[in-house]
Amino acid sequence: MNKRITAATLAKAKAANQKSVWLTAYDTTSATLAEAAGVDVLLVGDSLGMVALGFDSTIPVTLDQMIHHTAAVVRGAGSSDSHRAWVVCDLPFGTYQQSPEQAFETSARVLQETGCDAVKLEGGLPMAETIRFLSDRGIAVVAHIGLTPQSVKKFGSYRPRGNNPEEYKAILADAGAVADAGAVALVLESVPAELAEKITATVSIPTVGIGAGRGCDSQVLVWHDLLGLSEKNPPFAPAYTNLREQITTAIAAWSDDVRHGKFPET
Ligand code: KIV
Repeated sequence: MNKRITAATLAKAKAANQKSVWLTAYDTTSATLAEAAGVDVLLVGDSLGMVALGFDSTIPVTLDQMIHHTAAVVRGAGSSDSHRAWVVCDLPFGTYQQSPEQAFETSARVLQETGCDAVKLEGGLPMAETIRFLSDRGIAVVAHIGLTPQSVKKFGSYRPRGNNPEEYKAILADAGAVADAGAVALVLESVPAELAEKITATVSIPTVGIGAGRGCDSQVLVWHDLLGLSEKNPPFAPAYTNLREQITTAIAAWSDDVRHGKFPET
């Protein structure tokens, strides 16, 4: 039986000062590959909308789309001999902010229809009541603060957060509030490394950094950025290979063979 990663596994890793590895995944193949490579947590991010569905933000992503892709990821998880990754599904924009009850209804659908392990939602202090409501009803919630892409229409850009004293203080308060409310992990996106380190030392739950320096308990990257599939990577996410180039080269070689009558070989 392979070892099943749970929220408790991640908490233990934090206590033992061991880093966990998170990666986004959007389908069965990416889930299988990431897990075989040793990834602990598969995050079905609503970045799905931008990297796989052709939207220019995460705002248009629907609950049905998240459920469809998360169920595919869950079907891929557990195929590794070593462990079964923890699978987290992003709640998309407009499906949880209205009230704790709306968030519960959405989360229940996600958990029942996908078989995933946890939901993630964006927001700090203003979402604490909702996080507590979900947590009190048995739902594992990952909070996401700092740069929250679903608020892009409010802020007008994806600029890093926490670089002025007001934002710095607010993010620190957000972190404390979501941890106190019962979140089981906390994504810190595009905040100063020093702030992320301070939060990591302060809160009892594991922090997961993206563009937040090395001081977090875990790191997460977007599949397409890590593997060189994105047209342009954020500065904090260097590609570890260049799949975009390798894929176009392979397809071009095959196309050439087809056009010159060399494929199939016989
Ligand atoms: O949607 C997503 O992929 C995310 C990660 C970048 C943390 O929220």
